[in-house]
Amino acid sequence: MAEVSQPIVSVIPDDEGKEKFKKSGDVAFYRRQMEGPNLQHRALLDTLVLTERGARFELLEPDTQTKLLLSVSPCKNDTVRILIDEMEPIKARYRVPDVITGELQCEQLRVERRSKLCVSLSWSSGRHQICVWHFPFRLEILCEDKVMVTFNSRSKLWFETLQDPTRRGCEGRASSHGSESQEDTLWKETFRQFVDVKANGPSSVGSDLSLHGFSHVFGLPEHADGLQLRDTRDGDAYRLFNLDVFAYDLQSRLGLYGSVPLVLAHKQDRTLGVFWLNASDTFVNVHYSSSDHQAGEIPSLRRRRREPQTDVHWLSESGLIDCLVLLGPGPQQVFKQYAQLTGFQALPPLFSLGYHQCRWNYNDEADVRAVDAGFDHHDIPYDVIWLDIEHTDGKRYFTWDPATFPNPSGLQRHLEDKKRKLVVISDPHIKVDPDWSMYREARDGGHFVKNRDGEIYRGSCWPGESSYLDFSRADTRAWYSRCFGLDKYKGSTSSLFVWNDMNEPSVFDGPEQTMPKDAVHYGGWEHRELHNLYGFYQHMATADGLITRSGGSERPFILTRSFFAGSQRFGAVWTGDNVASWEYLKVSVPMLLSLSVAGIAFCGADVGGFVQDPDPELLVRWYQAAALQPFFRGHSAKETKRREPWLFGQEVTDRIRTAITQRYCLLPYWYTLFHQAHTCGLPPLRPLWVEFPAEQSAFSVDHQFMIGGALLACPVTEAQVKEVKVLLPGSNEVWYDVHSAEEFKGGRTLALPVTLDTVPVFQRGGSVLCRAAGRVSCTADLQLLPLSITVAPNPQGLADGELYLDDGHSFRFRDRKSFSRRRFSFLSDRLICRAAGEGETFECDTVVQTLTVLGLKRKPSSVIVHVNGAEDVSAAFEFLESCSTLTVKDLELRVLTDWEIQMC
Ligand code: NOJ
Repeated sequence: MAEVSQPIVSVIPDDEGKEKFKKSGDVAFYRRQMEGPNLQHRALLDTLVLTERGARFELLEPDTQTKLLLSVSPCKNDTVRILIDEMEPIKARYRVPDVITGELQCEQLRVERRSKLCVSLSWSSGRHQICVWHFPFRLEILCEDKVMVTFNSRSKLWFETLQDPTRRGCEGRASSHGSESQEDTLWKETFRQFVDVKANGPSSVGSDLSLHGFSHVFGLPEHADGLQLRDTRDGDAYRLFNLDVFAYDLQSRLGLYGSVPLVLAHKQDRTLGVFWLNASDTFVNVHYSSSDHQAGEIPSLRRRRREPQTDVHWLSESGLIDCLVLLGPGPQQVFKQYAQLTGFQALPPLFSLGYHQCRWNYNDEADVRAVDAGFDHHDIPYDVIWLDIEHTDGKRYFTWDPATFPNPSGLQRHLEDKKRKLVVISDPHIKVDPDWSMYREARDGGHFVKNRDGEIYRGSCWPGESSYLDFSRADTRAWYSRCFGLDKYKGSTSSLFVWNDMNEPSVFDGPEQTMPKDAVHYGGWEHRELHNLYGFYQHMATADGLITRSGGSERPFILTRSFFAGSQRFGAVWTGDNVASWEYLKVSVPMLLSLSVAGIAFCGADVGGFVQDPDPELLVRWYQAAALQPFFRGHSAKETKRREPWLFGQEVTDRIRTAITQRYCLLPYWYTLFHQAHTCGLPPLRPLWVEFPAEQSAFSVDHQFMIGGALLACPVTEAQVKEVKVLLPGSNEVWYDVHSAEEFKGGRTLALPVTLDTVPVFQRGGSVLCRAAGRVSCTADLQLLPLSITVAPNPQGLADGELYLDDGHSFRFRDRKSFSRRRFSFLSDRLICRAAGEGETFECDTVVQTLTVLGLKRKPSSVIVHVNGAEDVSAAFEFLESCSTLTVKDLELRVLTDWEIQMC
């Protein structure tokens, strides 16, 4: 094996050696809030108004006479919304639109108790209560009389009211508390050579929440760090500000490409979520405290001093305080509550769960055809080949380089004949070129973001001087969507899909390599208000474009680099410009778990590492790991060596083929999991604590993960490893090695010997798994393959599992209920196959061909197959004593028919 490639230094200093990206201390609103006093807000309890949407109170900060309006709305799905706005704003503040899907169903509140100190409110079941305390103002959420969450527990509530620019400095929160140097940054802030003029002056908001009894919190993607959030007292705050960070630093809390302001807290008997709906530059501090840190607390909380507690302090540059607390009680409920708020994962077309082959760039049509043929030649399945920016005519998206891609539709037809797809890149910047009709249309239609002087904003990106589409405007999104029409996008066909990149947005000559915060969007909103929504909106418009292109009948596939809460509704996300080193392979696991728990279930990392060249061992290990992750794409930067799977010798090719082939066999399971994500909000990739919520030792594990409820994976992410330690959770569980069928008791850490061929994956006792049986060249053929079922009984001899089937590409599953769910239940040595739902209309001829039962305690004397309406048949079987495994082959049982197999 070649030497391990060197990690590269990645917070890229510019030519002058200064760092390009801000730390929290470089940001004025962060300093103001962190250095400012704790304010003494009072809730004016006699201003309480109960409405259909909950309760309203006025809040007063006496020093500055700031008056705020607090609304508290409990919603039907066990979430509580806490909204704080100015009482009498001089103009409306930005409310994040389009993220919350639909109207929240509010509960009617009733007053339970009322005194001068506090009002307590409850709703429907009476299990939960909200207590609003007069002074210092705080809001408690209780479950069965126990406080779970306190909003403003540490009096961090901060709300800079908008000031009249003509009277700047005369009044308002910030001016009265700001020091002289802070004064300078209220209306104008300078970072390196960039001046940010704040049209509305200081407008930041913040608050803290205490999560009582919790010592593990997760979420807040995207950061190149572990799954469990770290205490920020020994480092920087987590920043949520979408940025293009090439070869990002590891163990860093700086903002990366996308943001989801969701924190999940978990303990043995409760999971909670806190969703801070704000799209401006946001910092989050996390403090874990033990009982010692409770000193000085307000009296009513002192009695809980022996409990652990996590304080989460949110600070945002502008907008409102719009905070939703998701009450669980378990992980499954929190995922569903979050999905009900921001939308469920879009059900991906089946092809997009296959393997994707990308590179910056495949040079021309012949190159694409050769790579495509290479997969067939080496008998490696794949579904999609990708074209990066060089395929365009001078980086004008929606065009083709006439020299290298003269016949793009011919190329797509060639791929389509093999049931494969093409993905092309479409970035949000538009080359400034008055001779190009797309530029003219965008300019004349008012579709570009403006600068602070009201002119079309210009910044530099791949094409040179560029302007940026204003995706926050519905008309612009509609116009952009139409650009994907087959009539408009010359050379495209219905087998072309899309990749949105650089949509933080990346601006090479902008502050922190992004758009200035004082750029202006439609409606006069400053970019600072909605920065983190920019990529979300491009993704939304692109998804709409592909759906419209198909007349509304086909599911789209769009990969985006930048994202926000809710982006899961539009497609997939990847983790950007990682590096070909073992550290980046390792961090890809917690990064994808963080995305998954924050709703972004269809996520992946560039296989092999984008920057630099992986050695063959790293490449193999990366394929093995990524084959077990939701979005599976090999990608590499322009300067890297070619790395198609067959370029490293036979052994490497064989290992990569095995990893990809096993992924394809497991696709019926992945697809079922995606349907579950689409309907229940449960991510396919899960931290162990999601499946083992009471297993304390699993809470911080982030190098292993569950794929659904049935498989536990522990990919090898270190070089030259001879043994891996795998935690098999649950002392009442059993686990089966999927390769050897060996059975292991749970509740222990296993030392598993590994070779380069080993990928540690275990099937959980109690599960039934469906795999495709056979070899294919792409997913379209997969639907023709028979299935093979593996039953892994739990210690009680029981197991069950589900299989979801549909056509794999259209919306008929949604519009005509054209899908089918089958349930497999194993008890008393009998496997029963039945419908899992009613009124489902999908038809197919798929058969179950093979049954494997693991951990069978005795060899059966016979195996009898019973199909409804037919005579019982005795089936031939094999029993392997050494691993207690029964195999029945050649079953040919239609999966849509009811049947039973009895081991006698
Ligand atoms: C940056 C993206 O992260 C990378 O994947 C892509 O290849 C380059 N842009 C060029 O488009």
